[in-house]
Amino acid sequence: MIAPHAIQQVKEAARVEEVVGEFVALKRKGPRFLGLCPFHNEKTPSFNVSPNLGIYKCFGCGEAGDSITFLTKHEHLSYVEAIKWLAKRYNIDLPEEEQSPEQQLEQSERESVAVVQQWALNWSVEHLWTTDEGKRIGLSYFHERGFSDATIKTFQLGYVPEQGNAFATAAIANGFNPDVLEKAGWIKRREDGTPWDFFSGRVTFPILGLSGQPIGFGARTLKSDKKLPKYFNSPESVLYNKSRSLYGIHHAKKSIVEQSLCYLVEGYTDVISLHQAGITNVVASSGTSLTEDQVRLIKRYAPTVSILYDGDAAGMKASLRGIDLVLKEGLNVKVVTFPEGEDPDSFAKSHSSSEVTAHLTGNAKDFLVFKAELLMADSGDDPVKKAAAIHEIVESVSLVPDLVLRSLYIQQCSRLLQVNEQALISEMNKVLRKQYRKKLGGDGPLPEEHLAPDIAAPQPTIEDVGTTPQERDLLRMLLSYGHERITVPVQHDDGSTFDEETSVAELMFELLALDDILFDDAIFREIYLDYRHSSNLGNPVDAQRYVGHEQEGWRTTAIDLLTEKHVLSANWKDRHKIHVKRESETLYDALEEAVDILKERRVDRMIRERQEQLKTADELGVMALLQEIIQFSEAKKRLAKKTGRVVVG
Ligand code: UTP
Ligand code: MN
Repeated sequence: MIAPHAIQQVKEAARVEEVVGEFVALKRKGPRFLGLCPFHNEKTPSFNVSPNLGIYKCFGCGEAGDSITFLTKHEHLSYVEAIKWLAKRYNIDLPEEEQSPEQQLEQSERESVAVVQQWALNWSVEHLWTTDEGKRIGLSYFHERGFSDATIKTFQLGYVPEQGNAFATAAIANGFNPDVLEKAGWIKRREDGTPWDFFSGRVTFPILGLSGQPIGFGARTLKSDKKLPKYFNSPESVLYNKSRSLYGIHHAKKSIVEQSLCYLVEGYTDVISLHQAGITNVVASSGTSLTEDQVRLIKRYAPTVSILYDGDAAGMKASLRGIDLVLKEGLNVKVVTFPEGEDPDSFAKSHSSSEVTAHLTGNAKDFLVFKAELLMADSGDDPVKKAAAIHEIVESVSLVPDLVLRSLYIQQCSRLLQVNEQALISEMNKVLRKQYRKKLGGDGPLPEEHLAPDIAAPQPTIEDVGTTPQERDLLRMLLSYGHERITVPVQHDDGSTFDEETSVAELMFELLALDDILFDDAIFREIYLDYRHSSNLGNPVDAQRYVGHEQEGWRTTAIDLLTEKHVLSANWKDRHKIHVKRESETLYDALEEAVDILKERRVDRMIRERQEQLKTADELGVMALLQEIIQFSEAKKRLAKKTGRVVVG
């Protein structure tokens, strides 16, 4: 844990142009810096760094953020690692929060287990290469498997002698505490306390953490005795958390980033064989099914995972459910299958590198398509089975967080399953409602924006598209000029006027509250309410609060708004024939106008809603509705006159 005040100190010290400048060549251009975007390929620079705002933004690919975001995206550091990086760069002492005795104990245990694992790694590697037994049994086994010497060295494979306590004896002689050796998983003890080697007679596959340090081991027996487990794996320890580690990640991470793709295989040997065949962006989840933490780890490096399956159809179906979890994290999932009886390891061995690459790219199928095909083939002509299969597929699709992607899947599945698209959408909306209720614990209605749009509903007309552009303008003004003081003419009851000084933010709150107006867009609304809440409490709000906010939606929205190139939206100028001076000079006018336009559009919407209700209302209802429509129309005309819009009808 890093103390919050220290994080604040680091954030304040970090200069975005310096941090980015360590990785990107930047040229000063007026108040900004410009360079070639490190996040996409480009020949002319569109990567902007603004020291004033403390942010960077690429106008080519849209990547944006502050110093910390840059380090998390470019260097793939976690938030805490980024803070530590900056602290080091700016010579700031990061006082660790006071550790409890348990935490101190864990810390020292972690350190001692880490020392054992490194020592054991060296010991096992040495035994593989330099002892007779190691060479005769271990090394020749790896050679038989087709691993080259270079590969064996890269993956630091090793060997533990058959004699039952060679390792224990050496390690204890070296001064290691048997308790720590046992926690690290290298020895076990008999009742009388004498130690024996857990991995004796096995070849070892070290499991490395992200920075290459050994955290655990897999150890394969070389005997074909079916009663013995083929692999012994290190137990979990303070250092090794199975559900958070991926075998091979240290060697793969750079190429996963370069390829924007991560291959996922079943085991140690699959990783190593593919690596040797030149496919280096590959990791294994080591026997277990993929966990949420592993998925997040992959997502730090690439948007897509391609799962290499060697199982039979039955085994595949069992693991399909596990993959759904990957969808929920917003990772794209592809599936590659292998010919009967082959796994990635054997396939890599019996084919050339280019054949392997061709197979992996040529046979990658989108996971949902794969699942749909598999389930449909299975249900044959049985309508009940078919319905169940459709339901299951729709459930998977509903996990995809991206709305656009989700509707593309629905289209694809509709074609594939020969089911009407609308039927799939209704089915999915049912699933979504259920999930939503489960999450809330209550049974409130599902907010509209979570549901797939009903394609049977009439398409919105141009007037119907909502008020997002107006909300955008307002929020941008709030973030850019919220603090600016402006003078507002106020009218007394007796008709006399006087000037009152206020801030842009306060005036905006007042103007919108007058008609109970809130933003429709969920993120705009959240930021607006947060801003209003903080300033009502008397805390000055800074746009930086949102630019550096931990919630990604807030962050990207704020950065987008603050870096918008156009001061006022172009169509505004054209439509209203307003001659815009610099926006900050005409803040009062601009604000009033933006609020009026928003109100006008909202009134317009209320009119149309009532016109719609007229169609089904009874006689009394019609009277009330007509009256409201007349009132709203009056209001609309008043507003339109102010904003200079022509109202037709
Ligand atoms: P395999 O049985 O394919 O291992 O298990 P292998 O070494 O490739 O064996 P052969 O040479 O093809 O017969 C695949 C992965 O499953 C995990 C390991 O991660 C292994 O790499 N596994 C398997 C275990 O953890 N424990 C076991 O007992 C077996
Ligand atoms: Mn295998």
